[in-house]
Amino acid sequence: MNKVIAKEQLAEEVYRMRVHAPLIAEERRPGQFVIVQQDTDYGERIPLTIADADTDEGSITLIFQSVGKSTHKLAELEPGDAINNVVGPLGKPTHIENFGTAVCVGGGIGAAPLYPIAQALKEAGNHLTVIIGARNAELMILEDEMRAIADELIVCTDDGSHGRKALVTEPLKEVCERDPRPDLAVAIGPPVMMKFCAGTTRPYEVPTVVSLNTIMIDGTGMCGGCRVTVGGETRFVCVDGPEFDGHQVDFDNMIQRLGTYKPLEDDEHEQCHLEMAARDKEQSRNESS
Ligand SMILES: Cc1cc2nc3c(=O)[nH]c(=O)nc-3n(C[C@H](O)[C@H](O)[C@H](O)COP(=O)(O)OP(=O)(O)OC[C@H]3O[C@@H](n4cnc5c(N)ncnc54)[C@H](O)[C@@H]3O)c2cc1C
Ligand code: FES
Repeated sequence: MNKVIAKEQLAEEVYRMRVHAPLIAEERRPGQFVIVQQDTDYGERIPLTIADADTDEGSITLIFQSVGKSTHKLAELEPGDAINNVVGPLGKPTHIENFGTAVCVGGGIGAAPLYPIAQALKEAGNHLTVIIGARNAELMILEDEMRAIADELIVCTDDGSHGRKALVTEPLKEVCERDPRPDLAVAIGPPVMMKFCAGTTRPYEVPTVVSLNTIMIDGTGMCGGCRVTVGGETRFVCVDGPEFDGHQVDFDNMIQRLGTYKPLEDDEHEQCHLEMAARDKEQSRNESS
């Protein structure tokens, strides 16, 4: 059992939670993740990146979007409640060194896993440009945190409600056209965004790291749930990743596999909202009687 120490809502359906997990906090390195299971009967095991850790407090920070049944249950926890299982740290840590100039691109919730990597790249002495994008101002997260570590921060929204009206690939292209070019790009966000970021950096030959959020089941390399094709070979995200060379990933295959559960996911999400609305109605009826 891992106690929830603090919980905060960052954006619509996006939560930041500090969870007591001293051994994981001690061991974790940027780029690694945990698998969380809240409902131990038939509950799914959901992978979440370790966004931050505090070894003094013995806590890890998770930032997650409530997109389905399991993340909804997680979002309902309050400080003092406990998460049944937190397993990790899993996955290979990000390769960090002083590359020279690095550009980090975060799309939506992708800013959460990007943050510890950007922080580590800065600490290693890289000149750091960070580009963060979201559909609109309400969905933008970690802007202040990124500003505090980046040499340059470019903020964009699809609808222009905050920062520049652009998709993240637009400023990424401009950064790649600079002389000298960046020595490394890191792009984390929805698969389609990572696909187009890799497509943007390819002609400029800027090495590009992506972090793949795939379907995970056991997190140990045994079930094959998280398989992806990279450079024509089958790799498992949980043990070989989560980071890969973005120019080698078969994104179309990955997007197709992720889409398998989309209708089920949408149904579960809709159901969670209906249950919440019914609960709120019941509560206000009780309060007024
Ligand atoms: C390495 C890694 C790091 C991640 N880091 C983050 C992060 O930091 N923040 C964040 O918000 N998200 C992160 N994700 C994505 C996160 O794991 C998903 O958002 C989460 O799994 C969604 O859980 P859910 O139950 O709410 O919705 P879903 O998993 O979409 O559940 C809805 C339904 O889909 C079906 N389904 C989904 N997956 C499976 C499966 N494996 N097997 C069978 N049925 C399935 C089930 O019917 C399920 O009830 C990460 C993913 C990976 C792989
Ligand atoms: S989650 Fe089972 S092999 Fe990776």
